[in-house]
Amino acid sequence: MKIRTIDNVDVRGKYVLLRDDFNVQIVDGKITDAFRIEQSMPTINALRNAGARVVIVAHLGRPRGMRNMEYTLAPVAEYMHIPLIKDCLDKDFLSGMHDGDVVLLENVRFYSGEEENDSEFAKKLADGFDLFVNDAFAVSHRAHASTVGVTKYLPSYAGQLLASEIEQLDAVMNNPVRPLVAIVAGAKISTKIGVLKALARIADKLIIGGALGTTFNYAVGANVGNSLYEPDQKDIVLEILKYGRANNCEILIPLDKGVAKEFARNATRTDKTFDEIEDDDIILDAGALTTARDVDVIRSAATVIWNGTVGMAEWSPNWSVGSFALARAIAEQTRAGKLKSIVGGGDTVACLEACGVKDDISYVSTGGGAFLEYIEGRDLPGITVLMEK
Ligand code: 3PG
Repeated sequence: MKIRTIDNVDVRGKYVLLRDDFNVQIVDGKITDAFRIEQSMPTINALRNAGARVVIVAHLGRPRGMRNMEYTLAPVAEYMHIPLIKDCLDKDFLSGMHDGDVVLLENVRFYSGEEENDSEFAKKLADGFDLFVNDAFAVSHRAHASTVGVTKYLPSYAGQLLASEIEQLDAVMNNPVRPLVAIVAGAKISTKIGVLKALARIADKLIIGGALGTTFNYAVGANVGNSLYEPDQKDIVLEILKYGRANNCEILIPLDKGVAKEFARNATRTDKTFDEIEDDDIILDAGALTTARDVDVIRSAATVIWNGTVGMAEWSPNWSVGSFALARAIAEQTRAGKLKSIVGGGDTVACLEACGVKDDISYVSTGGGAFLEYIEGRDLPGITVLMEK
């Protein structure tokens, strides 16, 4: 099945409701990472240049249906130099728009009808428009009024970013150049069970790190001290390890860890194997042996998919050693033309930024949860509704 794209549609003079994901980090009213906005620009510019009247609908954070100005999209409108329409159901401004104009609607999650996918709310949102374009891959795993509901009332298409996310992720999942190495890390196993199984099915090697890795170490009998891990997930871990063996996927779990006696950015670091870890040790990073092994594995790969940092990467320099080494090895191999690299997830992309290698990666997804669900093979409701029948 193919996705319906906006590419060959005549949009001149048409009112286009465009869904973007501008759920970006904002500190003190300033955007600290504009990656999602920048990635949305090609579709916005294409629509504007083709003479459409573009009205962008987006969300920020989780205001839970309340008009909480902590979650205003004003900083985004300011960053983009476009007007902000204070209420996403306001239609009065439409008559004053000209071909090529672009405006942004205030946070659609100020209305509870958005997350409830309420059909009355979706109808009101769609009112006054000729077409709907979804370019918000990162929120397409949510069946909300602005991703799914409005498609009942408007001819609906995918934008360039959404189409390219699908194309890139499909290529790597359906036809990867081998050896394919997947790296999955992060805090909680519960959010990643599906993706671990999906990757165990297709990858040649699966590296597991971070607190997720610690849970694997615990499950196979290691002492993990006073660290973050999920003891109740032991059976799931054993099932995933078995699943890897059944699918000829070598699952690599941490060999050692960088540990401290306190959970603090400036805590003193010691690298310890699991035999050496004491009950009051707190794991904060991958250890040197693990990192060296993982870098070797990356160097032997033709494709790498990476989601999740392997330690407290934001606590640089002490606890970012493992994650930065992976980022640099992946970037180096990609730059040398030896590797196709696909990276997704907010923390992982921030880690690439922090070591200045984001531009070296073959494909950086804008998706967090959506990236994981897509890789897992789930149908994303915002995408399903755009498929050609
Ligand atoms: C994201 O940041 O992953 C998307 O914008 C979805 O946000 P949500 O998890 O609050 O629905």
